[in-house]
Amino acid sequence: MSGADTNSNGQPPQWTPDSWRSKPIKQCPDYPDKAALAKSVSALKRLPPIVHPREIVQLKEHLRDVAQGKAFLLQGGDCAELFDYCEQNAIESKIKLLLQMSLVLLWGANKRVVRIGRMAGQYAKPRSSPMETLNGKQVPSFRGDILNGFHADERDLDPNRLVRAYHHSSATLNYIRAAISSGIADLSKPLDWGLGHVRDPALKAKYEKAVHFLQDMRSFMHTIGAENEKFHTVDLFTSHEGLLLEYEEPLTRLLDDPTAAQPRKAYYNTSAHFLWIGDRTRQLDHAHVEYFRGIANPLGVKVGPTTPTSDLLALLRALNPAREPGKITLITRYGAGKVASLLPAHIRAVEDSEYARTVVWQCDPMHGNTQSVGAGGIKTRRFSDIFSELQQTLRIHKEQGSYLGGVHLELTGDAVTECLGGSEGLDEDDLSTNYTSFCDPRLNEKQALELAFLIADHYRSERAEESV
Ligand code: PEP
Ligand code: CO
Repeated sequence: MSGADTNSNGQPPQWTPDSWRSKPIKQCPDYPDKAALAKSVSALKRLPPIVHPREIVQLKEHLRDVAQGKAFLLQGGDCAELFDYCEQNAIESKIKLLLQMSLVLLWGANKRVVRIGRMAGQYAKPRSSPMETLNGKQVPSFRGDILNGFHADERDLDPNRLVRAYHHSSATLNYIRAAISSGIADLSKPLDWGLGHVRDPALKAKYEKAVHFLQDMRSFMHTIGAENEKFHTVDLFTSHEGLLLEYEEPLTRLLDDPTAAQPRKAYYNTSAHFLWIGDRTRQLDHAHVEYFRGIANPLGVKVGPTTPTSDLLALLRALNPAREPGKITLITRYGAGKVASLLPAHIRAVEDSEYARTVVWQCDPMHGNTQSVGAGGIKTRRFSDIFSELQQTLRIHKEQGSYLGGVHLELTGDAVTECLGGSEGLDEDDLSTNYTSFCDPRLNEKQALELAFLIADHYRSERAEESV
């Protein structure tokens, strides 16, 4: 399909928000109560957009800068967001952590940082098995709060959860916007961000150095009169895996394209600014790729050991026929032991094609590094594996002449004990202390900040080498 293959509404031919229904689909729930499903879908259809096309387009422009090496993308949040996380402290601690990390990255990479939360809608989870064992009993797997509940007596699919997801997503984003516009991110008082939780004195001193650097820069800008209102605040965009198409379809709206010189409409998914296709649902001829090819949002595609190199270009051609820079983020997640043998061919396939320099390369060092430990088979990840995949990815992009534009992390602002290692040296015995994830293990605030420093250090030493 070529870039010219669009109809008068700008969407690809033979595409409608429901054309995915005629394709084979993976991970699709079979709701027993079709009438209740229809009722929820029609309620979603008339509710207002959660995000606006103007914001979606703004993010796409930022991602174009990332694709061209001018900015860095930080994306992070829970593996499975719960409705219960729609609460002031949980939202604030995640915003603060993402801001702290982005400050460190800005200091290290010397580039603007674009922030996207896995927040305000990350409620649907793909599962490898339809059943799981809970307290010794076989029950339907937990598929995320938008489908069923974690507790054993809530495992049946409940279509009312679609509408509850909309309301929790909107309330979360509403509070993100309120907190940001009220100065949670005011760079003029970064020490109010609360560094109390950073216990390691060396890490704390490094962080304070970065903060002081930014404070000095701000006071310098003030002195020369170059201060800009925008500096007082930051943007935080939202994202989730676009897994549950029964939810995504009714929130897909034909709206004015804010970038068009002449009045023109396009289909926007208004449930989040950015959506991605997961590792289990990116089959070329299946429903998810069909749905995603018609929407104007920037999109992510997970790429892993099971992605044939030949699929990559076919995916880009299907999802981004106009070759818009920044439209597609390739989220690579191979695992520390596989990245070196698989990533180079994926990079060459894209960068030697007509898509060179159009994609954002983003490293997800989490999903290829999950393992079970101990007698109970607790799901965990080693900080050293996460860092190793990231470090190898940085090196490989450098060797290949491409740009690693971002990271995609599972993290939380709370002091959880779900990933092993880091400077606190969490070991297997510590995992049970505060393991609260209902899905994959997340980096805690300290491990997440530490990772940001390791990335910052990489860029700072690279710049130091270049200036010699
Ligand atoms: C995720 O991002 O939580 C996830 C399930 O990842 P993947 O699709 O890469 O396995
Ligand atoms: Co996950």
